[in-house]
Amino acid sequence: MTSSSTPFSTLIRTASHEQHVEAETSTFMSDLLGGRLGVEAYARYTEQLWFVYEALESGARDLSGDPVAGPFIQPELMRLASLERDLAHLRGPGWREGVTALPATVEYAERVAECARTWTGGYVAHHYTRYLGDLSGGQIIRGTAEKTWGFARKGDGVRFYVFEDIGNPAAFKRGYRELLDALPVDELEKQRVVAECRRAFALNTGVFRALGEEFRISA
Ligand code: HEM
Repeated sequence: MTSSSTPFSTLIRTASHEQHVEAETSTFMSDLLGGRLGVEAYARYTEQLWFVYEALESGARDLSGDPVAGPFIQPELMRLASLERDLAHLRGPGWREGVTALPATVEYAERVAECARTWTGGYVAHHYTRYLGDLSGGQIIRGTAEKTWGFARKGDGVRFYVFEDIGNPAAFKRGYRELLDALPVDELEKQRVVAECRRAFALNTGVFRALGEEFRISA
């Protein structure tokens, strides 16, 4: 099948599959999901997400009228307010003073912000990599976090993973894939978006690597 006859949603998923496996099986994620890390590691990870979503969402309003990125900007996806509630729960009301980005997180957030400012196709790649992932594997992380660290079901600490305004995630993801398939760009630009998606996965893996170094479990 040529790339032009393959739906773009299939193309981007297939092209990032290998890196998805790499992210999923990273030491940090495996340890986190295996219940081998303390709540401090989870809190540190949540902090990193805050920087990434700040970059994704602070530019979102300006992009809502854009023909390429605009259709993806949907209020029910927005995560920043939920992350802030989680951080207030994890770190206390003064969380803002203590929050710091790892160098790998700075690199990731800066790239997202750069795309938001200068290249809407690239922004879509980052949007896809985070939000479709959060709607999918994020649900597994939530379940583990609730069990391991005793957060209330869908409550403070795991609100980031709870999309209150999306009643049917499977249907939402179908709609999202239709938006990807209808992306109004040519084949070459689609290839660039796929390449940026790979870069987005690599940036995520970089953050996991750094967190893995910070929270090494003694064997
Ligand atoms: C341990 C961690 C993870 C688990 C268990 C996991 C699990 C999953 C599962 C089960 C799906 C398929 C859902 C479906 O077919 O509807 C999925 C999809 C996805 N995941 Fe993950 N994931 C993890 C980490 C990540 C990370 C770190 C990213 C990137 C930041 C990511 C990005 C995605 C994306 C973009 C999709 C949508 C693929 C598509 O259908 O186009 N995932 N994940």
